[in-house]
Amino acid sequence: MAFFCLVRIFILCSLLSPFTGAQQAYIHSSGHKSELHCTSTSGNYRTESTPSYRFSAFSYTQTETVYTATGLQPSPQPTYGLAYSAVSSLFTNLSTMSYGNWDPNSTATPTDRAYPYGQAAWSAMWKDAALVNFTRGIYSTTASPTPIPSSELVLPPPLYFQPAGCDQFPRDFILGVAGAAAQIEGAIADEGRGPAKLGIPQIDSDFTATESYYLYKRDIDRLAAIGSQYYSFSISWTRILPFALPGTPVNSQGLQHYDDLINYAISKGVQPVVTLIHLDTPAVFLGSGVLNYTLSTRSYFNQNAVGYENTTFEDAFVHYGQIVLAYFADRVPIWITYNEPQNGAINGVAIDHVLKSHARLYHFYHDILHGKGKMSFKNGVAPSVPQDPKDQSHVAATKHINDLYLSSFLNPLALGKDYPAAYKMTMQDYVPLSPQDLDYMRGTIDFLAVDIYAVSAVYALPNISISSCAADNSTANLYYPKCVGTTEVTVNGWNIGYHPDYISYTTPTYLRTQLNWFWNTFRLPLMITETGLSTWGLGISPSATLLDDILWDQARSEFYLSSLTEVLKAIWKDGVDVMGMLMWSFIDNWEWNTFQHQFGLMYNNRTTQERSYKRSFFDVVDFVESRRMTR
Ligand SMILES: *[C@@H]1O[C@H](CO)[C@@H](O)[C@H](O)[C@H]1NC(C)=O
Ligand SMILES: *[C@@H]1O[C@H](CO)[C@@H](O)[C@H](O)[C@H]1NC(C)=O
Ligand SMILES: *[C@@H]1O[C@H](CO)[C@@H](O)[C@H](O)[C@H]1NC(C)=O
Ligand SMILES: *[C@@H]1O[C@H](CO)[C@@H](O)[C@H](O)[C@H]1NC(C)=O
Ligand SMILES: *[C@@H]1O[C@H](CO)[C@@H](O)[C@H](O)[C@H]1NC(C)=O
Ligand SMILES: *[C@@H]1O[C@H](CO)[C@@H](O)[C@H](O)[C@H]1NC(C)=O
Ligand SMILES: *[C@@H]1O[C@H](CO)[C@@H](O)[C@H](O)[C@H]1NC(C)=O
Ligand SMILES: *[C@@H]1O[C@H](CO)[C@@H](O)[C@H](O)[C@H]1NC(C)=O
Repeated sequence: MAFFCLVRIFILCSLLSPFTGAQQAYIHSSGHKSELHCTSTSGNYRTESTPSYRFSAFSYTQTETVYTATGLQPSPQPTYGLAYSAVSSLFTNLSTMSYGNWDPNSTATPTDRAYPYGQAAWSAMWKDAALVNFTRGIYSTTASPTPIPSSELVLPPPLYFQPAGCDQFPRDFILGVAGAAAQIEGAIADEGRGPAKLGIPQIDSDFTATESYYLYKRDIDRLAAIGSQYYSFSISWTRILPFALPGTPVNSQGLQHYDDLINYAISKGVQPVVTLIHLDTPAVFLGSGVLNYTLSTRSYFNQNAVGYENTTFEDAFVHYGQIVLAYFADRVPIWITYNEPQNGAINGVAIDHVLKSHARLYHFYHDILHGKGKMSFKNGVAPSVPQDPKDQSHVAATKHINDLYLSSFLNPLALGKDYPAAYKMTMQDYVPLSPQDLDYMRGTIDFLAVDIYAVSAVYALPNISISSCAADNSTANLYYPKCVGTTEVTVNGWNIGYHPDYISYTTPTYLRTQLNWFWNTFRLPLMITETGLSTWGLGISPSATLLDDILWDQARSEFYLSSLTEVLKAIWKDGVDVMGMLMWSFIDNWEWNTFQHQFGLMYNNRTTQERSYKRSFFDVVDFVESRRMTR
């Protein structure tokens, strides 16, 4: 999950909350719902009017088939682009350094004070970061892989209710799991990493998270053993370039870490999906501003700044991205430049930087590195639906908000078309795109990537028009920047938002519509790059929760299986090219300000860093793999 609202105030957080309502018109009825597949005409109702009771000889007759997860078989890896050795001449000026771990207690005096990017400068950056109560985790070096005992790989008893339907997943359907550096790695001041800011007041990072920086081999072993074919993770910019900026040294330990992670995953048959930035902007771009951050209702999408607006950001991000691509493009099939730029690109300049740097990296990847994999960025807003699709004002309001938050990025990058009117009328400080810009941007995503957790049901505001609302960016206008109404309560009064997680159990009901909107609007293959369901607070206080209860996460299984059933309908009934689905998250992790949001397919014991599979992980992998076409 990318980002949660810290404060839930009216309009402020509503886009992240699970408004639902309905996309269908409400049809009122009385009596009980009929069982559609059981009718007298289908001949499957009993003809007797009463049961006939009888005794018989009793014996235990139940049988149980026990399945064990099918692990991945590594196969020879294709080459997805030029190797670093073929392009190293582009990087003749790169210097390399190694910094080790930061020791706040150290009294040693570094001798390299004259060098602006030496040990002394690196330690000074951490000192300036002024971490409070800094601690290290359990691990201080990469933990050796441990085989997963087969007793942990036995599938749970089958779910009683399973989706009906006989459609299958295409042979190359991508099924995988996701995580992000700041949320899982920990080891924030280890092996040369520089400080990063997450755009959240008072929160820089969690110091330990799930310690995946050191536990990645064990994590990957667990993914391979249960059969998760893809692993989506993000690279921490400040591990590669602790000082972030062009002209500063590459940290050899950071580079080595990700090189090893990628190679290890591939050696186990797990395909890497790599994101270049996932809200962990190097601290330098935020100056001191973030410390005095106050939530601004004037920003695009009402989110905190994460540094994209800084005038030095674009070139620096391209520089960093080129280094990472050059080193790893030969082995990585799928690249994501930005995670959810809607979160953190606060103004017109920030969005301009995102679009242009993305397009530059796309051209570098395909034109210079001859990359044969796919590249995109992850949209952080799911398409909304009209609360009542028969009401034209709801439909117009829905078009406005989808244009504002999705077409603003995808018009230029997918279609080479200018910003939509909704964006221009709302973001008065937008940076105009020239015809040359649009030519350069057109077609710079290979697929549509979208993170879908919830759906917003939209209606027109009763007392202010969209255009007069969008023109007024003053703080007095409470409706800016969305300028439409969104809800999580049905017209019948059922709150189908899920307190307190902002995540909706009813999301799968709308998924097919959301996928159809994307596909038919931008006409590119589509991947759900994050989706998931949080259960709140389970297992945080170990004495209060039994491990068995945590691992029996039937609600999550239901969420994923119904989502995947809607994906199958979109593929087969509607002809939508859904390439795959990545589940957030492979593990309960640091959801930016808390560990209470538990999206994991694995539980992580915060005391021991011991992982356990939840039943949903088995259920989803089994659901897809038992339906995967072999031809
Ligand atoms: C390398 O550095 C030199 C001197 O600082 C500079 O003139 C040159 O343009 C740089 N080359 C690249 C490829 O950045
Ligand atoms: C710094 O020293 C204190 C006191 O000895 C110790 O408790 C703490 O763990 C040390 N911090 C680190 C990061 O080593
Ligand atoms: C740091 O630790 C002290 C002592 O345990 C505690 O009172 C304080 O709240 C902690 N500060 C933060 C920001 O966690
Ligand atoms: C922008 O980034 C530069 C580093 O390139 C930094 O020196 C500067 O303080 C940043 N500006 C702001 C306003 O944060
Ligand atoms: C934050 O704001 C306060 C009050 O305006 C000011 O005194 C302080 O210097 C600011 N801090 C930073 C880091 O900008
Ligand atoms: C807010 O609106 C004013 C007046 O239209 C405009 O000059 C200004 O650029 C707007 N601010 C932003 C951040 O768009
Ligand atoms: C607009 O209408 C809503 C309810 O329909 C009301 O809460 C709000 O105060 C009204 N706003 C203005 C500016 O009249
Ligand atoms: C987590 O580990 C601790 C220490 O071994 C143990 O006491 C606790 O019961 C574990 N929590 C759960 C939910 O299993």
